[in-house]
Formats: sequence, structure tokens, C-alpha cells
Amino acid sequence: MPQEPTQHHRRPHDLIDTFVSHLHSTMTLWYTPPALRPTAARGIRLLSTQSAASIKRTPPQGSAQQRFREFNLEGKVFAVTGGGRGLGLTMAEALVEAGGEVHCLDLLADPHEDFHAARARANPDFGGALHYQRFDVRDKKGSDEIMASIASRKHRLDGVIVAAGINHVATALDYRESDIQRIIDTNYKGVFYTATAAGRQMLKHKTRGSILLIASMSGLIANKGMNSSIYNSSKAAVIQLGRSLAMEWARVDAQGQGGIRVNTLCPGHIVTPMAQMVIDQDPKTKEIWESENMMGRLSRPEEFRGLALLLMSDASSFMTGSTTVCDGGHTAW
Ligand SMILES: NC(=O)c1ccc[n+]([C@@H]2O[C@H](COP(=O)([O-])OP(=O)(O)OC[C@H]3O[C@@H](n4cnc5c(N)ncnc54)[C@H](O)[C@@H]3O)[C@@H](O)[C@H]2O)c1
Repeated sequence: MPQEPTQHHRRPHDLIDTFVSHLHSTMTLWYTPPALRPTAARGIRLLSTQSAASIKRTPPQGSAQQRFREFNLEGKVFAVTGGGRGLGLTMAEALVEAGGEVHCLDLLADPHEDFHAARARANPDFGGALHYQRFDVRDKKGSDEIMASIASRKHRLDGVIVAAGINHVATALDYRESDIQRIIDTNYKGVFYTATAAGRQMLKHKTRGSILLIASMSGLIANKGMNSSIYNSSKAAVIQLGRSLAMEWARVDAQGQGGIRVNTLCPGHIVTPMAQMVIDQDPKTKEIWESENMMGRLSRPEEFRGLALLLMSDASSFMTGSTTVCDGGHTAW
């Protein structure tokens, strides 16, 4: 008696028939308009529609007439270290424009003239305000006091951008002990003091705050054209600090404390006094830096305004422990 071919003994043309028939049904599924599809195929669609429907969508709160309300910072309170000039000040101005009350904290006795220009530009109709206080991020006790004082006025601290930082260019063999100490004290310990002082106030006032640590792409790569091993490694430490703090403060506990987000930003080269100092020391650096990113240019601080607003607002409510890179493609090739 001839035997039916089993799964293991199929003839080649049987296998081809099976494959063609499978291909046909699959293509029917892919290309037939939904209304003409057989029930089995529609079943697959129905299943995915049902599970999609079971995921509840929370519509954004507030009036539908407000444009992109997640970005609205009205009534919210922020602090920006290194806010006396450069990137910190530019980011602070973006928050003011979105309605935030922003306190710039910086070592400078007087902020850069750009600060006064930014304050003069602030549109009172938008509801924001820009303040300045001299402050040294290396002062741990002072960090706790200044954050407590800022948060006490409206019983809230919604966000802190930690931008104060210093650079020092020297070959590794020439780095002096005092320079290592200065950089680590500011770029690492100072960042830790600011972030923990802010976290403490956010927990106390039960604010679901956002903390943004300004690291650098130099925390991810060796920065071609600039010998700064200690600066680079201090920025790598900031990236890791961000993840670690994010883990500690992300969940809301039974007392309603927590829900604090911590993220890091890694900018590429920005034309600020800090970058200018490196270029002044060796003018060839600018050319090297420009040629090292995909866009063939350095960035302007204004190109980080949108990221400041995104990361300080409810628009990034599911972002924590993340590292955002904005570098014109420098680290991507
Ligand atoms: N400019 C760039 O190309 C670049 C690239 C990547 C990351 N960054 C980072 O961005 C941040 C802002 O830098 P920038 O380019 O605007 O430089 P910047 O020098 O213009 O601004 C830094 C500010 O920090 C302040 N500061 C320094 N030490 C302080 C202290 N102990 N206490 C309080 N304030 C202090 C300075 O007075 C200054 O106003 C820094 O953390 C920097 O490392 C800059």
C-alpha cells in the first residue's frame, strides 16, 4: 500500500504547494482590504484592536484650547546652577518664557550682561520671573539652605538644572593635584550637593520634580582636540550619578513622596565662554571640533532651549535615568 507522505517524508512538490498556499493566505492577509478579509484574518485584527482598547488613555488635563499644555510651567518654581551666563542662563530664560519662576545661582558676583538682557526680554504676560543669587555649588550646607529657601516661598520645587561646571585643559601627566581637586569639587561633588539638596525639598514638599544634570558628550567619548582627562571623567561620573539618583527617587511611596525624575544631558560643543576659553588657548581647536561632527559646526546655547523645556516639564513625565545626547552627530559616527 502506498503510504501518505508524513511531515518527514513529503515530496519536494508537496512542500512547494504548501509554501505557495501559505504565501497566498499570508498575502491575502496583507493585501486584501479589511472588509474583504476572511474571518480568521479579521480575527487577528480584532484581537489587536481589543487589546489596544483595553489600554486606558488619559487625556491631558485642562482646556483643549490651550496649546500643548504639558509644556506650560506657569506657577512652577525652578533653580538653575551656573545660571549666571552661558548654557545655564539660556536654559533658564526658556523656562521663564514658559511661565516658570526661575532662580539662577552662580559663583559670579554679578551675572553676565546677558542675564539683564534676558530679564528685560521676559514678557510679563507669560507669567515667568528671573532671579539671581550668588552661590557656590561646592558648599554643601549652603546648597541645602538655598534650595530650602527657594522651595519655601510657594511650598514647591518643580525642577533644577544643574549646569555649573568648569573645565581645565592639560595633558594627563601635567595635571596638578589642585586642578584635579577643583574640577572634582565643582563638577562632581557640587552636582551631587545640588541634586541632593533639590531632591530633599522635592520630597519634603511632595513635588514630582525633575532634575537635569548637565554632563557632556565628553563623558561618553575622549574629546578630540582637547586634552582634559579629569573634566571628561568628571562628566562620565555625572552620567552615572544621574542614573543612580533616578533609581532612588522615582517611585512614589505610601506617604506620597517621590516621583522625582533625574536625567542627564550630554551636549556637544557649544559656543559659550567655557568653549571660547579652550579655543583662545589653541585656535586650531575650533576647526577640529567643527570637522568632528556631522553638521560641520559648533552649536549655539539657544539650540538647547527646547530640551530644557522638555526635560523640566510634564512633557517628559515618563523619562528618568536617561541620557540625552545633543551633539550634531559628533558621537554617532
Ligand atoms: N560649552 C560647551 O561646549 C559644553 C559642552 C558640553 C557640556 N557643557 C557643560 O555645560 C555646562 C555649562 O557650561 P557653559 O558652556 O555654559 O560654561 P560657562 O563657563 O559659560 O558657564 C558655567 C557657569 O558655571 C558657573 N560656575 C562655575 N563654578 C561654579 C561654582 N563653584 N558654583 C556656582 N557656579 C559655578 C560659572 O561662573 C559659569 O557662569 C557645564 O557643566 C559644562 O561642562 C558645556
